[in-house]
Amino acid sequence: MAKASKNIAEQNLTAPEHVAIIMDGNGRWAKKRFLPRTAGHVQGSRTAEQICEDAYDLGIKYLTIYAFSTENWARPESEVSALMDLLRKYMKDSIERSSKNNMRVRVIGDISRLDDDLRKSILRLEEATKNNTGLNFQVAINYGGRDEIVRAVRTICEEAVSGKLSPQQIDEELISSHLDTCGIPYPDLLIRTSGEYRTSNFLPWQLAYSEFYFTDVLWPDFNKEELKKAIEYYNSRDRRFGGVK
Ligand code: IPE
Ligand code: IPE
Ligand code: MG
Repeated sequence: MAKASKNIAEQNLTAPEHVAIIMDGNGRWAKKRFLPRTAGHVQGSRTAEQICEDAYDLGIKYLTIYAFSTENWARPESEVSALMDLLRKYMKDSIERSSKNNMRVRVIGDISRLDDDLRKSILRLEEATKNNTGLNFQVAINYGGRDEIVRAVRTICEEAVSGKLSPQQIDEELISSHLDTCGIPYPDLLIRTSGEYRTSNFLPWQLAYSEFYFTDVLWPDFNKEELKKAIEYYNSRDRRFGGVK
């Protein structure tokens, strides 16, 4: 069995401020066990809950997870509705859990396409946790990076047409402030599980200078030890941001 790694402080590691995760491999995890794909999603949602605790414990301040992409509507209707039910349950259970662990929850993505009741519980949860000062937890639902940019451009154009804004005022900061992640620092580290090496339309603007960590571990098997490995990897990187060191 692998030896448990020393804790972050003992190893003198710096925790990234913001970690983004593409939680992938739920279906393959279930398939390996001859279970329906939805069983993988149930287990995956438990992993997501646990990883919030672990991330905060390791010193991470912002955690953003990809729960449902704008492309995931292409899945069979039964799987989409099982995923929506899990999100529904998550939003309800989270009100109590977040008041205990002081977590602030925000949803990014276009929630206008979601069922009314789910949208309402999202807004209720965001409102109930907005003053919490623990982990800042972002859940991406019906999120697509291209769609996010389209929506931002549309709003900026509306502001320009109405005279609130002149084209000369459009700079990186202004665009950033029109994205769903307004006010949230860019991710320092992106983790993708299940051995896929792509970003699948997740945070294209925000990940422009992030470090990327890929692991073969399937999302339902991901845990604190695996998160520590990602942080170790992050600490081994030399972030030059175009300069020289
Ligand atoms: C990720 O697991 C969860 C979501 C996309 C909601 P997958 O369902 O993509 O699992 P695989 O990739 O089929 O194994
Ligand atoms: C990305 O995973 C989306 C989420 C994790 C929510 P997918 O499994 O949908 O990505 P692709 O289709 O393999 O790129
Ligand atoms: Mg997948």
